[in-house]
Amino acid sequence: MKTAAIIGGGVIGGGWAARFLLNGWNVRVFDPDPEAERKITDVLDNARRSLPGLGNVALPAEGALSFHPTIAEAVAGASWVQESVPERLDLKQKVYGELQQHVARGAVIGSSTSGYKPSQLQEGFDNAAQIVVAHPFNPVYLMPLVEVVTTEANTPEVIDKAKAIITEIGMYPLHLKKEIDAHVADRFLEAVWREALWLVKDGIATTEEIDNAIRYGFGIRWAQMGLFETYRVAGGEAGMKHFLAQFGPCLTWPWTKLMDVPEYNDELVDLIAGQSDKQSGKYSIRELERIRDDNLVGMMRALGNTNWGAGALQNAHDKAREGAMGLASTMEDVADLSQPVLTLNRTVPLDWTDYNGHMTESRYLDAFAQSTDRMMAIIGCDADYIASGGSFFTAETHIRHIDEVHAGHPIQVRTRVIMAEGKKMHLWHEMYEGERLLATGEHMLLHVDLKTRRSAPPAPHLAANLTKFAEAHAALPAPEGLGRAIGAPR
Ligand SMILES: NC(=O)c1ccc[n+]([C@@H]2O[C@H](COP(=O)([O-])OP(=O)(O)OC[C@H]3O[C@@H](n4cnc5c(N)ncnc54)[C@H](O)[C@@H]3O)[C@@H](O)[C@H]2O)c1
Repeated sequence: MKTAAIIGGGVIGGGWAARFLLNGWNVRVFDPDPEAERKITDVLDNARRSLPGLGNVALPAEGALSFHPTIAEAVAGASWVQESVPERLDLKQKVYGELQQHVARGAVIGSSTSGYKPSQLQEGFDNAAQIVVAHPFNPVYLMPLVEVVTTEANTPEVIDKAKAIITEIGMYPLHLKKEIDAHVADRFLEAVWREALWLVKDGIATTEEIDNAIRYGFGIRWAQMGLFETYRVAGGEAGMKHFLAQFGPCLTWPWTKLMDVPEYNDELVDLIAGQSDKQSGKYSIRELERIRDDNLVGMMRALGNTNWGAGALQNAHDKAREGAMGLASTMEDVADLSQPVLTLNRTVPLDWTDYNGHMTESRYLDAFAQSTDRMMAIIGCDADYIASGGSFFTAETHIRHIDEVHAGHPIQVRTRVIMAEGKKMHLWHEMYEGERLLATGEHMLLHVDLKTRRSAPPAPHLAANLTKFAEAHAALPAPEGLGRAIGAPR
């Protein structure tokens, strides 16, 4: 088993613990706070609710979580050690002194520091080569970005290992080869933060008005294309050069106060905290965390549909573990042709539930459509085949909703080929949570020529593969409910 040690289990350490655990790692925690276990359990509750349904493929079985009274004990057997103690250099260096004595030399030690440079953390330690900055974003269990900042002291092996492990747990390692105080993302956020403080202090806008300016406008754009790609599009057909020519002169206009900071005093703190209470005080922090997580999952899942940005990253993460989760991509991957094929193995995501608190009606078809797509790919109707001009269109669907299922629960679909003749493909899907049958889906599909948009026979290799399944599945007992009309007595 892969083991991660978490040194400091607050907001960020707890998020790292959840990220590793839910990706199948064992996690060992050291935090002197007697409340640490309770705090991590709270973070884990949120993570278990939101992360497993983020992608379209189930996560591996959770690892084991344990708490330890010393750093020495916590780091035993760890191949990744994540330091997330408070942002004080003296405290961090004290921790690194202990880590130097106990961490295996082949392990990576990542620091969550928001501001310190890796050279400040490595200084004076003979294990400097294994210490990198691995700066995450809150909530660590959902946000994929990790700024990996390294120095000359780090070996290529350590850097490669750091990037590989971060990728394996579904995150994106942005490797900064030049260190700078506060790395990249926080410098950027700090500039925005300073400007926002001025706008509040000068009475130009309230905290709520500033948040609205972001969330109704450029914040949505940033989430999908960032800054430069957004401005490239804003430049119209002439692109980035035109954009720069248009807005370049503004740099000398008094648009920005970024070089100054407002004086930090009680008056400013009261002003901002008061406005923030008025804006959001009606929600508890726990409620806000859940609203945030629901929104993040929904946005990233939407980006997955266009295979863009954080959604494309999640899709790649899903693809990488399909095989491990028992999902075939080709005929060769199917272990036993005589049995129904596992065509979906996932968790019900947060955005699949409705006002009744269970998986909404339309998502049953969504899940079955994903199963049909996988079945098509297995028999050879994959992206290349579709690009060459052939595909299947669904002609008829009958779904039976048999039992309830809720967000966060694991579901699996097993698929049988009932009949494959000429242009026709008749599929039978059964959806389960464990042994509990949740729904069945019966679908008739027709093979089409995408140029004429009319039905046409499939390519011979597709027909042959379909026949193999149809013949093998014909030996199974007929599924209960096959061909049943709506409302017919059971
Ligand atoms: N909060 C954020 O949004 C955020 C984002 C990215 C990075 N960071 C960085 O992550 C680090 C931790 O920040 P946080 O927000 O989780 O703080 P936090 O105060 O929530 O958690 C810090 C934890 O460290 C524990 N701790 C204190 N001394 C310790 C020691 N000697 N050994 C082990 N544990 C010890 C505390 O008990 C506490 O649980 C900081 O370096 C911060 O800059 C924070």
